[in-house]
Amino acid sequence: MSVHFAGTTALVTGASSGLGAEFARVLAARGADLVLVARRLDRLEALARELETRHGITARILGADLGEPAAWARVRAFTDAEGVRVSTLVNNAGFATYGVLAETDPGRADEEVRLNVGALTALTRLYLPDLMSEGRGALVNVASTAAFQPVPSMAVYGATKAYVRSFTAAVAWETRATGLRVTALCPGATRTEFFDVVGSEDAKVGRYQSAGQVVRRAMRALDARRTPPVVVSGVANRVGAVLGRLAPERLGLPLTEALMGR
Ligand SMILES: NC(=O)c1ccc[n+]([C@@H]2O[C@H](COP(=O)([O-])OP(=O)(O)OC[C@H]3O[C@@H](n4cnc5c(N)ncnc54)[C@H](OP(=O)(O)O)[C@@H]3O)[C@@H](O)[C@H]2O)c1
Repeated sequence: MSVHFAGTTALVTGASSGLGAEFARVLAARGADLVLVARRLDRLEALARELETRHGITARILGADLGEPAAWARVRAFTDAEGVRVSTLVNNAGFATYGVLAETDPGRADEEVRLNVGALTALTRLYLPDLMSEGRGALVNVASTAAFQPVPSMAVYGATKAYVRSFTAAVAWETRATGLRVTALCPGATRTEFFDVVGSEDAKVGRYQSAGQVVRRAMRALDARRTPPVVVSGVANRVGAVLGRLAPERLGLPLTEALMGR
C-alpha cells in the first residue's frame, strides 16, 4: 500500500540534481509539500515551480552550503520561520572524492565528512523529535553500496557511508515504536551528476541504475508493512553488499581496489 504524503511536508537535501531531485518529484506526486535545499538556487527554483504547477503542492527552497556547519541550524531556523512542520526528511546531499588518500586535497576530504556525516547527523537530530511525534512520514538517509566494505581510492567516502548505514540502522531501532519509517538507502552506480563531481568514472562499479529506479526502490521500502532499516537498490548491488560484508578484508581489500580502477 502506498504511503500518503498529502498534507505533510518533506525536506530534501541535495534536491538540485540526481537522486534528490527525483525524491522531490516522487514525493510531490504523492502530495507532499516540499522544502528543497542545495547550493544551486536556480535549479531549486525551477524544480519547485515545476512541481507546484504539476501537483498543486507548495515547494519552498533554501540555498545552503551544508558543508558549512553553521548552515545546519539555519535550515531548522528557516522551516521554523516559515511555520513548516517537517514530517519526512531525506538526507541525500553528498559527494565523493577519488584517489589514494595521501594524494587527495585535505580540504575536500574534510568537506566530504562535514557534508556526508556532519550535515546528515545534525539534521537528523534537529528534526527527529518532530518526525517521531508526527509518526506518519519517513527518514531516508542516503548511504551507498560503498558502506559495506572499506574502499581503497575512496577511503573517506566509504567510511562516511558506513557511518550513515550504522547510524541509520541504530536510529531505526530506537524509533521503532513511533510509526516513523526509517531507512538507509544504499544505491550502487546511479546515472546522476555524481561521477562528474568525482571527476572520474573509474570509481564506477557495475551497471548504472537510473535515479528513478533507485527512488522507486526506496519508496517501495517506505510502503512496506515493515520498512527495512537498510535497503540496497538493485539485485547485483545486493549480492555485492552481502559479499562485501562477509568477505575477510585480506580478500576484500585487493578485490575492491581492483574494482575501483586501480
Ligand atoms: N550516483 C551514484 O552513483 C551514487 C551511488 C551511491 C550513493 N550515492 C549518493 O547519493 C546521494 C545523491 O547523489 P547523486 O548521485 O544524486 O549526485 P548529484 O547529482 O551530484 O547530486 C548531489 C546533490 O547534493 C548537493 N550537494 C553537494 N554538495 C552540497 C553542499 N555542500 N551543500 C548542499 N548540497 C550539496 C548537490 O547540490 P548543489 O551542488 O546544488 O549544492 C546535489 O543536489 C549522495 O549522498 C551520494 O553519495 C550516489
